[in-house]
Parts: sequence; structure tokens; C-alpha cells
Amino acid sequence: MTLEKKVVEEFRKYFGGEPDEVVRAPGRVNLIGEHTDYNGGFVMPMAINRAMFMAIRYRSDKEVHLLSADFHQPARFRLDDFKYLKPHWVEYIKGVANGLQKRKLPLQGWEGVMLGDVPRGSGLSSSAALELAAAKAFSEVSNFPWDPVDMAVVGQEAENDWVGVNCGIMDQMISSCGQAGHAYLLDCRSLEGRHVPLPDGVKVVILDTGTRRGLVDSAYNERRQQCEEACEFFGVALLRDVRPETFFAKADQLPELTRKRARHVITEDQRTLEAAEVMAAGNAERLGELMDQSHVSLRDDFEVSNDALNEMVEISRAQPGCLGARMTGAGFGGCAVALVQSDAVDVFAENVMANYNRETKTEPAVYVTEATQGACRLEK
Ligand code: GLA
Repeated sequence: MTLEKKVVEEFRKYFGGEPDEVVRAPGRVNLIGEHTDYNGGFVMPMAINRAMFMAIRYRSDKEVHLLSADFHQPARFRLDDFKYLKPHWVEYIKGVANGLQKRKLPLQGWEGVMLGDVPRGSGLSSSAALELAAAKAFSEVSNFPWDPVDMAVVGQEAENDWVGVNCGIMDQMISSCGQAGHAYLLDCRSLEGRHVPLPDGVKVVILDTGTRRGLVDSAYNERRQQCEEACEFFGVALLRDVRPETFFAKADQLPELTRKRARHVITEDQRTLEAAEVMAAGNAERLGELMDQSHVSLRDDFEVSNDALNEMVEISRAQPGCLGARMTGAGFGGCAVALVQSDAVDVFAENVMANYNRETKTEPAVYVTEATQGACRLEK
């Protein structure tokens, strides 16, 4: 049974009767442009065929009644009186409600059942999917117009200011703005984006190493700070504003660590812009090369990869039909992404699973994915 049907069934069981609507917001995989979003630079993620679904029904009062069918756990809160309590999935939804109320959008209560298949903690943005699905649910029951960019910002604010995770804007933007069959080249400073069609004849494959990011929050914040130090040196607000020529002319005056961090970000922006060009031109081979280069830069200069990710990338690269592979997301564990010729993809998946398992004694997960639409209400 599809998740869409299942979430409706769970709704009937728990609340009785029919939901008014089902909304969906996807997870994401980033093809290229890593650790560039908080530097005001460029990213090129796509929304994947794994998502958070919510079956929802309007309430005439100001209460939100929820059931997480994933956790088999209910939760509720009142829109006229709520505050942060403790780490819990409902805080993401309260954080979204808070952001919407700050925008003076009048909110209506609702009941909803949530069910998703974005693996949690693997770096595929299950939390952005949750935030955008919640925003969509509020917009449906409260009947305010859907502004995909502002709703992504609401999601990011929920994460930064309510839940307390210091992420950039990429995950929420793609969960909100994704388009089927396309990746999204996003300028993370202006929040302007361009949908770029995926080349024919290739598949995007997500490879979950099964390792989870341990100290990712502190390491992520440390990287952000190192980028700020580089900005100070160059006298700019964001590394996005340092031209590669300027960087290379002055690089040897920087302390080594700052130089490496900045070199990653500045060259990654260039790779991402080129990736969008070659992808639009259907040049999957060059796209793959750029992905490979991105991995090397993340591994050696930004130092956010780990052994499992490096192993996964190497095993992938050794397979016939693999055009490129890299770690994706924040790093320190989680997933890699590979670009693979469609006719080689089945053998690729089998070989990667077997080889990775043999080398690391861990069971990887392999998802051949498609680019899907961002947050939306599903047609009945
Ligand atoms: C995490 C963050 C994003 C982005 C990536 C790294 O996924 O949530 O905002 O910074 O890491 O590219």
C-alpha cells in the first residue's frame, strides 16, 4: 500500500471519519554545492521520492491534535498558548506555527496523522520534510496563500530558533520548491532558483553508509566559524563574495586550516555553477566529474567526510556505469550520492551493496531515486 493510502487509513483509525486533505513534503539529496548555503553560495539539490505525508482535517477551534504513525505517539498543543517543552517531534510543528504567527497569518486548529519514509538521521532532511509538511497543513486548513520561499524560511527559522539546530536554507528550500524531473540550482543569498532538468539516461542513486553523524552539530558550527574567519580576512560578509582569483592571489597569507576551508567553499561554488550548465546541456559525464571533485574537496579541504563515506564513494566509482560519486549533506556519516547510467543501475546497486558489506561489515541501503515535486496537497 502507498504511504498516501496508509496515512488516510491511520487517520480513519485514530480520529474516525475522513481527512479533508493529504499533504506531502519530500526529503532531499544534494547533487553538488555542499557547505555553501550558509556562505551565501550555490547548491543544487533535488527533492526525492521519499517524503512526509500528513492526512489532515480542519478544526473549528485553536487546537492541533496529532498522531505520529511512525512513532505511534500522539501529541497536541493550543495555538493560542504554546511554548517549547523538550526535544520531541512536535516541537518542529510548534516551531512552524510560531513562525507563521510571527508573520501574522491567522491559524486554525487541525487534526492530523503523520507518516513518512525519509530515513531519520541519515542526512536526507527528514526534518525539513516535517517542517514543510506542517507549513502546508497550516496553509490548507487556515487558507492562507502558499509562498514556497517564505515557507522554506519559516521551516529554517523553526529549526534554528525553536529546535535549536543551526542549519542553512538548502534543505527547506528544496523540500518546498522542488520540481519533478529537475534538480534546483539555488542562490542561497538571493533565494532565487532555477530548475535544471536531470540528463536523460542516468539515475541518481543514494547510498546510505549506515553510519550516523556523531558530533555533527559541533563540527558543523566549527566549520561555519572557520568560514567566518576567512570572511574577516577578505573583508566580506559571505565567502560567496570572494572571487577565486582573489582567493588564490592571497591564499598563502591565510592560516592553513582557514585556507583549506575557504578553498573548499570557493571552488565548490564554481563547481556547482558549472554543474548546472553542463547538466542543462545534458552532459552527464562532466557532471559526474564535478561530483568526484566535490568529494575530494569535502574530504581533504573541508574535512567533513568519514571512512565509511570515502569507502562508499570509492566502491561506487569502481563500478561500470558510475559517472561520479560524493558524500552528500552535512557529512560525518549518512549518505553518499552517485550518478549512474540507467542501464547499469541494477548491477551497480547489487555490487555496491555486496562490496560495501564485505569491506565494512555494515549493511548499506541503496535507493535509486527520482526528482519529485516540493511540498504540495495531493489530488484526491
Ligand atoms: C545540512 C544543513 C544544510 C547544509 C548542509 C551542507 O544538511 O541542514 O543547510 O548546510 O548540511 O551542505
